[in-house]
Amino acid sequence: MAPDAPSRGAEVEVRAITKRFGAVVAVRSVSFVIRGGEFFSLLGPSGCGKTTTLRVIGGFEHADEGEVAIGGTPMGRTPPNRRPTNMVFQRLALFPHYTVFENVAFGLRMKRLPEEEIRQRVGEALELVQMPGLAGRKISELSGGQQQRVALARALVNRPRVLLLDEPLSSLDLKLRLQMQEELKRLQRELGTTFVSVTHDPGEALAMSDRVGVMDSGILHQVGAPMEIYERPRNRFVANFIGDANLIDGVVQGTDGDTVAVRAGGVVVRARRAGWEQIGQTLTVCVRPERIQIGAAADLPNAFRGRVEDWAFSGSMVKYRLAAGPVRLHAAVPYLNGAPLFQVGEEVAAGWDPMQAVLVPTEAAAPGAGGGP
Ligand SMILES: Nc1ncnc2c1ncn2[C@@H]1O[C@H](COP(=O)(O)OP(=O)(O)O)[C@@H](O)[C@H]1O
Ligand SMILES: [Mg+2]
Repeated sequence: MAPDAPSRGAEVEVRAITKRFGAVVAVRSVSFVIRGGEFFSLLGPSGCGKTTTLRVIGGFEHADEGEVAIGGTPMGRTPPNRRPTNMVFQRLALFPHYTVFENVAFGLRMKRLPEEEIRQRVGEALELVQMPGLAGRKISELSGGQQQRVALARALVNRPRVLLLDEPLSSLDLKLRLQMQEELKRLQRELGTTFVSVTHDPGEALAMSDRVGVMDSGILHQVGAPMEIYERPRNRFVANFIGDANLIDGVVQGTDGDTVAVRAGGVVVRARRAGWEQIGQTLTVCVRPERIQIGAAADLPNAFRGRVEDWAFSGSMVKYRLAAGPVRLHAAVPYLNGAPLFQVGEEVAAGWDPMQAVLVPTEAAAPGAGGGP
């Protein structure tokens, strides 16, 4: 799926926000811009600062440094209910003994809207989340997925410019989660509302988002379209966190046109030039397992010889572990017929299109060069 780039301007601007809780720096000088109508995800492991960032945008926390602007207006200390945002909390915070209708209507009642308008808007919101028949049910009588939909409807009924979602699908089982990913994306497209979603699940972020920001330890490492961060991770953390990556440490031997040759423990591997690499520099080549081709003979581009150490079947793919001297590689090959193509102990050649492999710094920190937020 290749989402079209949204064309509206900056809707949410996060400018160098830092947030501390005592000695813990939850968010470290994080900056990014979310465009109007975009589905943006903040992705990272537990404790990396995603929820805190979202709460700062929603006005539930105030940053120690930096600021947030929404629709071009600096938010300062504007409280949550005066911002053009609504938040769906990780714990849904529904009233369990109230009906679906009363839960969704709650915010509108607080605003003292006329009963007729409340009925109409709640009806529309429940239709959007595909729960029109269940308005009279109590929350305690609903499944987890249905409760999630009610929480969504309760936020959407306010018609926010920006919807903030904290791990919206994490409580659901896998099948339902995949189905709800599609539904959330459909809903976001239909409404044209800017969605900012937080998740620790890379698959979910890649599947739903126009752009993803990858965080760790309070640091925003990279912002980009799903395919961009997968194909061109900026550092080891991003490469490892999103999908499987072979990370091969080596020393730059030389460059040739658009590619660079890296010597790694007796084999020479090639990658796309980054621009910041220097001859003699130690760095890391990142290549995705599905980019590695295995052949019985050395008829592959930039191939080196190796041996099959192990293989595992995963349904659609066979995953091979290869050894070439001290270098270990994982290769994923589509499974086509009744047997693996190569056996344990078999001598093979392995290689890849050098333009499909990228360089990252050997240490976790990002280089000064390269695309970032
Ligand atoms: N209210 C709080 N008081 C103290 N520490 C907090 C508070 N909220 C978050 N933290 C800490 O800040 C860090 C980031 O938390 P959080 O933003 O919730 O991460 P994530 O949502 O990515 O799991 C964690 O170390 C967490 O323990
Ligand atoms: Mg969180």
